[in-house]
Amino acid sequence: MRVLLTGGAGFIGRHVLAELMRRGHDVRVMDSLRNDVHRDGQAWSPPRGAAFLTGDVRDAQVLGTALAGIDAVVHLAAKVGLGVDIGDMPDYASSNDAGTAVLLAAMARTGVSRLTLASSMVVYGEGFGLCPEHGSVRPAPRLEASLATGNFEPPCPHCGRPLGTTLVVEDTPFDPRNAYATSKVAQEFYASNWARVTGGAVAMMRYHNVYGPGMPRDTPYAGVAAIFTSALRNGQAPKVFEDGRQRRDFVHVRDVAAATVAACERQTSGVTAFNVGSGTPRTVGEMAEALARALDGPAPVVTGQYRLGDVRHITADSSRLRTELGWQPVVDFNEGMAELAHLGEEGAAPSPLRAAMATR
Ligand code: UD1
Repeated sequence: MRVLLTGGAGFIGRHVLAELMRRGHDVRVMDSLRNDVHRDGQAWSPPRGAAFLTGDVRDAQVLGTALAGIDAVVHLAAKVGLGVDIGDMPDYASSNDAGTAVLLAAMARTGVSRLTLASSMVVYGEGFGLCPEHGSVRPAPRLEASLATGNFEPPCPHCGRPLGTTLVVEDTPFDPRNAYATSKVAQEFYASNWARVTGGAVAMMRYHNVYGPGMPRDTPYAGVAAIFTSALRNGQAPKVFEDGRQRRDFVHVRDVAAATVAACERQTSGVTAFNVGSGTPRTVGEMAEALARALDGPAPVVTGQYRLGDVRHITADSSRLRTELGWQPVVDFNEGMAELAHLGEEGAAPSPLRAAMATR
């Protein structure tokens, strides 16, 4: 297939590009090489065999060229992370939502009818918890007063009892709790609207905590695995917030790339959301220990610090991806973390650190 890959110079994008090419697709990358990601004006060049267009998805004219002769679009270009402060809000709305709207209109104009969209687990907010008395309930946002006294678990909103955890499935209602999450929800709705009107096909890939080679590090938007690796490489202990028992599903970027390409190849009609996780939730404390072991560094320190915008647990049920697309994660957690620890920055990454953060 001839595939347009937006955000193909970013962390996930470069792995998706490699996987698309490995599977014999003809790929055209479009990336704006935005300054907050590709710092110091660092240039990026695609691997041999892939075409590259520098451009922003909000630019309808560039899109006209980019979409010519294309069969399917993989749309990863976005402003990522949780943002630094509320001042980031207009950029999330513009880069992610206006950008997707312009892209969808251009696809309709040029008759491109297949889209794979990068979404995120953050669309679910805190997901659901299990109360012994009230069953499956939606935890309320955690109060600062509770966090400050070390009460990190969100209680049942009805009786205040501690909640057991569940895995969120794709039809869990949205509950975006920050500007990035809100922009991802809006992107999904725009894509569904487009599909209904044009008869197009959309796969929404709700990525869990993606880690692996080329992961962005020294930026305000870096994920926790990159932050811990940087600390350990400087001989410092990873600082684990809260009590370290918050759960996430850390999924390797090569597995994410394989899932994304499987969806691009197989989602030929309708609109489907896919949770993209390894299926094995871990605590942030366990992840810190795995990295410290791999680098033979100082043991993690649990600080009790917290960030008000953080949710406590996010863990997905990714079985739809397995049953409908035949996808299986192949990277073992400990091996993947060891690889990140040793190769994360320069290693298998197709280009250096500062070029690492354009997608998701
Ligand atoms: C991450 C992604 C988000 C993605 C989501 C999908 C980043 C920055 N965020 O959000 O884009 O949509 O996964 O599930 O990549 N922590 C520490 N020490 C630190 C930093 C963080 O203990 O120094 C803890 C946080 O309190 C939190 C956990 O690590 O409990 C994860 O934080 P983070 O990596 O920022 O990611 P998410 O909020 O899960």
